[in-house]
Amino acid sequence: MDTTKPVRCLLSYSLLDSALCLAFADLVRCIMSKSGAMDLASGLGGKIDKSDVLTAVEKYENYHGFHGGDEEERKANYTDMVNKYYDLATSFYEYGWGESFHFAHRWNGESLRESIKRHEHFLALQLGIKPGQKVLDVGCGIGGPLREIARFSNSSVTGLNNNEYQITRGKELNRLAGIDKTCDFVKADFMKMPFPENSFDAIYAIEATCHAPDAYGCYKEIYRVLKPGQCFAAFEWCMTDAFDPENAQHQKIKLEIEVGDGLPDIRRTTKCLEALNQAGFEVIWEKDLAKDSPVPWYLPLDKNHFSLSSFRLTAVGRFITKNLVKVLEYVRLAPQGSQRVSGFLEKAAEGLVDGGKREIFTPMYFFLARKPE
Ligand SMILES: C[S@@+](CC[C@H](N)C(=O)[O-])C[C@H]1O[C@@H](n2cnc3c(N)ncnc32)[C@H](O)[C@@H]1O
Ligand SMILES: *[C@@H]1O[C@H](CO)[C@@H](O)[C@H](O)[C@H]1NC(C)=O
Ligand SMILES: *[C@@H]1O[C@H](CO)[C@@H](O)[C@H](O)[C@H]1NC(C)=O
Repeated sequence: MDTTKPVRCLLSYSLLDSALCLAFADLVRCIMSKSGAMDLASGLGGKIDKSDVLTAVEKYENYHGFHGGDEEERKANYTDMVNKYYDLATSFYEYGWGESFHFAHRWNGESLRESIKRHEHFLALQLGIKPGQKVLDVGCGIGGPLREIARFSNSSVTGLNNNEYQITRGKELNRLAGIDKTCDFVKADFMKMPFPENSFDAIYAIEATCHAPDAYGCYKEIYRVLKPGQCFAAFEWCMTDAFDPENAQHQKIKLEIEVGDGLPDIRRTTKCLEALNQAGFEVIWEKDLAKDSPVPWYLPLDKNHFSLSSFRLTAVGRFITKNLVKVLEYVRLAPQGSQRVSGFLEKAAEGLVDGGKREIFTPMYFFLARKPE
């Protein structure tokens, strides 16, 4: 880096304000490029034009109950709402979580990364995926689980996702992993899939179908494209039986998770089960795996917890990220509105931890279901 540049900028008196800003930007750029913070800043907003990020944040927030929005509107406009959310949040997710955007059942002594991979292997094992089979990942993010499951089971996985920015990232990462010949991405809505019926040997969804405006509509599409006799397995985000809709505290937590995670309305576990049966599936087994997890799934986000290996997810790490984003936004390396995004993501973290501790919410309601012959 050219160290005289900030000095030169400081000296050009007439342009002092903007020059200071630029010089500072150079310094920040230099310091941050190593930590991935520059990727966080440059990816922020996804496919949204940088100058429209703030407007998009405002529109996004207005959909939510936390800001006076209403559920019917969120459901009617789910495509716009969810895509805005992922355009805004994806670079934060990648910065904090890596390539897999989900929680995990975790044993004592297991690192977060290990538990995330095992959680993915668990799905592949439950589905009994065989080498060469054609598998569908519904709501695949940037493809972390897809790559892991494809390598673990030597199968061909297609990632279905309605967010263009995530697919662009996913394709890059598939190429780097060398699996771009056998695995691909399709940009489409999981409520209307562009596949003929009976196309896949196995289908899974990880923390994604919660974005569907209605579970039945989504499961019915999955049922249609799955081959008869084959299975669908998922980790669903749900409110548990302990959730009391009359309890104001419970409702507040639910709204925080909805605004923080781009969800129209978090369903109860029983609602998902009903929708599966209604769609025609035979449910083989189902369980809230959060109940079996020796290490609570929300621990990485809990403010009383500290970890170096998942530092960016901890309360201290998030506090640093929040301030970093503030600086990046100030020097215009991150678009206007970036701080607001880190704001609603912080709300999500709080809602998730509170919901997890009270056991009114789970991100891992698991089911294995079969389409009859
Ligand atoms: C929390 S992320 C999980 C991503 C991935 N399963 C993982 O574990 O890394 C939810 C994903 O669902 C996708 N999604 C949400 N609504 C969708 C829809 N209607 N059609 C297709 N994908 C959708 C989002 O774009 C996002 O990639
Ligand atoms: C929802 O979509 C409709 C039709 O596309 C649009 O008129 C309305 O403004 C949208 N609502 C919000 C809150 O953006
Ligand atoms: C993986 O599958 C491919 C094609 O289905 C096959 O050629 C290859 O030998 C398999 N590799 C392993 C390790 O099973």
